[in-house]
Amino acid sequence: MIKSRLTKLIGIKYPIIQAGMGPFSNNNLCVAAANAGVLGLLSTSGLFNKNDQPWIYNAFVDSGEANRDDDMATVLEKVLKRTHRLVKDKGGIFGINVMVSAELVQHSQVMIDTAIKVREENPDMKNHFKVIFTSAGDPVGWKDKIKGAGFTWMHVVPSVKGALRCKKAGVDVIVASGHEGGFHTSWEPVHSMILLPAVVEAVSDENTLVCGAGGYCDGKTLAAALVLGADGAQMGTRFLATQESDFHQIWKQAVVDAQDRGTLVARGFVGPARWIKTPRSLEHQKNTLKKSPGVFLGAPDDYATIDMSLINYEVESIKAVCEGNTEKAMMAAGEAAQRIQNMPLVNDLVQEIVKDTENILRSVQTKFLD
Ligand SMILES: Cc1cc2nc3c(=O)[nH]c(=O)nc-3n(C[C@H](O)[C@H](O)[C@H](O)COP(=O)(O)O)c2cc1C
Repeated sequence: MIKSRLTKLIGIKYPIIQAGMGPFSNNNLCVAAANAGVLGLLSTSGLFNKNDQPWIYNAFVDSGEANRDDDMATVLEKVLKRTHRLVKDKGGIFGINVMVSAELVQHSQVMIDTAIKVREENPDMKNHFKVIFTSAGDPVGWKDKIKGAGFTWMHVVPSVKGALRCKKAGVDVIVASGHEGGFHTSWEPVHSMILLPAVVEAVSDENTLVCGAGGYCDGKTLAAALVLGADGAQMGTRFLATQESDFHQIWKQAVVDAQDRGTLVARGFVGPARWIKTPRSLEHQKNTLKKSPGVFLGAPDDYATIDMSLINYEVESIKAVCEGNTEKAMMAAGEAAQRIQNMPLVNDLVQEIVKDTENILRSVQTKFLD
């Protein structure tokens, strides 16, 4: 049986985090993951665009059994209560992923305040809804609210500098996300093989756990993360391509179909993003090179300076996914897509990963040590 400080800290069976993946709903994926013994994360960013991108909002609301007329706080409240109802008998543990970048901060406040309120109202909720996972922004300033309410706090970073900032902020579990990862990546990328051990060396101690993200998708990669000093690994792309995943079928299938060098980096809403390679995303990459070269040079721009045609292209492409239009669709995923060839049930997937990880860790000693 594999165990780690992460399994002990939050009471999950296996040291795996099912990544929050917005702007789509992870409502059903999170339930399946939590019930399979890993940390399930609900994404929330799909609730930020009710007016601009109703196709995303509506899909989110429908999969969470809320009403399309509900405001975002009400939807989140219903989704949290639904998740609790569906995981409590199996002892599932879950959390929410909230993007806290500067331009989203008002929305982030609503999400976190709602999470705290819902958890306070139901004592049993505290046994299952244990984690707030923040991302895409500065962690400093959130400690009192999140930890004061009794949550375990996780935050994802792409650099040692970011990890040190997390430590200063009082984050419990720092997730080091390498450039292999799906969708938003950092302006100045470092890959998991370098980033994870560097972050472990910089911040891991008795009060601070570290997990890897970016490229982890099976027993080999989870075993590698643990050997590199991590307390667990977060997996996004791998969980996206599962039976229970809420993602549109063409997106899931695109992950399964991706081959060698099957992803590329081009503009995403808030910066560089990793997409599955298609004629449509190759076109987007060329446009990014012309209109937002900082994506490749490590020079950030923002909504004040960005050529909005890039953002509009992306919005159109995501809308096309929701409409099942494969020609116009553009789908984000990590490099791990090329190592994913099936679309299993979440529980079967977790069992396979865990079994392989255990076998690998056991064999390390007999294979390599006298
Ligand atoms: C389609 C997709 C959407 C994502 N959306 C978010 C998000 O809304 N918030 C976030 O913190 N990370 C997001 N991520 C990143 C994941 O949380 C995770 O860190 C990443 O998928 C790990 O790399 P992997 O894809 O190689 O497993 C997303 C990833 C994917 C593939």
